Amino acid sequence: MNDKTRYQIMKNRQLLTGYNLSDVGAEKTDQEKNLSPLPPLKKKQGWGTIVLPTDFEKLNLITDIRTVFAQRESRRKYSPEPVSLLELSFFLWSAQGVRRMAGPSSNPVTFRNVPSAGSRHPLETYLFLNNVEGLDKGIYHYLPENHQLEVWDKRGDYEEELTEALCGQTFAAKAPVVFVLSALPYRTEWRYGLKSAKYILLDTGHACENLYLAATAAGCGCCAIGAYDQDRLDELLDFMPGPSAEKTYECAVYAAAVGKLPA
Ligand SMILES: Cc1cc2nc3c(=O)[nH]c(=O)nc-3n(C[C@H](O)[C@H](O)[C@H](O)COP(=O)(O)O)c2cc1C
Repeated sequence: MNDKTRYQIMKNRQLLTGYNLSDVGAEKTDQEKNLSPLPPLKKKQGWGTIVLPTDFEKLNLITDIRTVFAQRESRRKYSPEPVSLLELSFFLWSAQGVRRMAGPSSNPVTFRNVPSAGSRHPLETYLFLNNVEGLDKGIYHYLPENHQLEVWDKRGDYEEELTEALCGQTFAAKAPVVFVLSALPYRTEWRYGLKSAKYILLDTGHACENLYLAATAAGCGCCAIGAYDQDRLDELLDFMPGPSAEKTYECAVYAAAVGKLPA
């Protein structure tokens, strides 16, 4: 291992430990400096409004949690049968759905089906939909506050670019649904400063695990995708190139393919 790699490995390990503030210099957080936070929900900026159904009692879910744990595994083969809108809605609700909001409407705190450090909820959810009942193929963005989707990008022919962005993992790029979780790091940094990268990644793991379990319970398959090309995926989602220290900086942090299981 050369010195450059060794140094970077050490920096990565510092991230795992949340940093020793006496080493990196303890600066007040922006919250302590009374600076404004970022809202926990991105404003609607795409096209259209797709209201997601919530009559989840109609899903034939496995309700025995031991069975769900026992059946959860990464599945990379999907049926040509479309994912229903109700199933998609259930997956979104499980991974990022908002249960309630508290605090002033200008700066609310959201409480969701997944935990998040300080309930800062730095994640946004984007979908590459290839085979979902009633929805055109395309790129969508989830609006958790109202449990709705908006069209993020009108082009439906994303497959080639998505395959490249997912490092050639065609099983994923061709999946009925690809979730991409992005982070707006400043939502968490405002309160937690340098510890935020660790917390954001922990938050992301919770969201993806809920997605795995929801998919399993609904008889679908899910596979987490950590191997992706950061620049290409960020560009495909129209994020500003980074990394940058801008407060509005957003980047993809995780993805997951989902589809019905083959018979
Ligand atoms: C952080 C993370 C990243 C992963 N990235 C990929 C990936 O890019 N491609 C893939 O096929 N599987 C990926 N997986 C799935 C793992 O390969 C899988 O969880 C592992 O082989 C164990 O199998 P199981 O999930 O069926 O228990 C990832 C899993 C995790 C937790």
